Amino acid sequence: MNRRYRKTIIAGNWKMNMTASGIKSFMQELKPLLPSPKPCEIVLCTPAVMVQNMVKFGKDCKVAAGAEDVSKYEKGAYTGEVSADMLKDIGAKYCIVGHSERRQYHHEDDMLVNAKAKALIEKNIIPIICVGESLEQREMDLTIEYITYQVKAALSGITAAQLRHVVIAYEPIWAIGTGKTATSEQAQEVCCAIRGVIRKMYGARPARSVSILYGGSMNAKNAAELLAQPDIDGGLIGGASLKTADFATIVKATMQ
Ligand code: 13P
Repeated sequence: MNRRYRKTIIAGNWKMNMTASGIKSFMQELKPLLPSPKPCEIVLCTPAVMVQNMVKFGKDCKVAAGAEDVSKYEKGAYTGEVSADMLKDIGAKYCIVGHSERRQYHHEDDMLVNAKAKALIEKNIIPIICVGESLEQREMDLTIEYITYQVKAALSGITAAQLRHVVIAYEPIWAIGTGKTATSEQAQEVCCAIRGVIRKMYGARPARSVSILYGGSMNAKNAAELLAQPDIDGGLIGGASLKTADFATIVKATMQ
């Protein structure tokens, strides 16, 4: 973390877990566990149908609400899609794009991720753009090359002014939901490389200001060590964000 130049963010990704009606009691349980004043930006991302309740019940805990996906289209005949405008209207502040589960199960490519990020920026929602390599790519020593490509593609056409409202999350696919965390050195190496790509694209100042999160089996035990790395500005947390005590411990791990 480097609090002088950038925001520290702890964001949960609930994926397709929980229900909207469970949010109230989750927040009641979380509230006394969170430090006051809050040491960082705290976000919980849920499926679109739950965002409204997250906005409502998150307020008291100062937890910002985020969605997990968005349509690249502004509006129209796209049955089942949810637009950035709709998310904005119900109070979403953040939205994840390009999560590896969407890339894998819904065949989302880098161009689509870029279009979705732009659709969000247009409506003043902060995209949390996910990038990450597969185990095969890591074993073939292609990690940095592949991540560089993903970051460049995702940010294509996004201006330096817009970049101030963009968050990048490095999530190695092999670490997601596997209990296998990247070592803090591995995570730092890639987050530092991402900042380097941004420096080349936008210059030193925007690169210094962009928050880069790590995600992939981050938990109450390993969070402090990961967050101690200079280029890791927070976490995108799956499983551990569903447990109030674990999530609160991760938030507290930013107080170092
Ligand atoms: P886990 O923390 O469950 O590994 O999930 C990480 C993730 O995919 C967050 O977006």
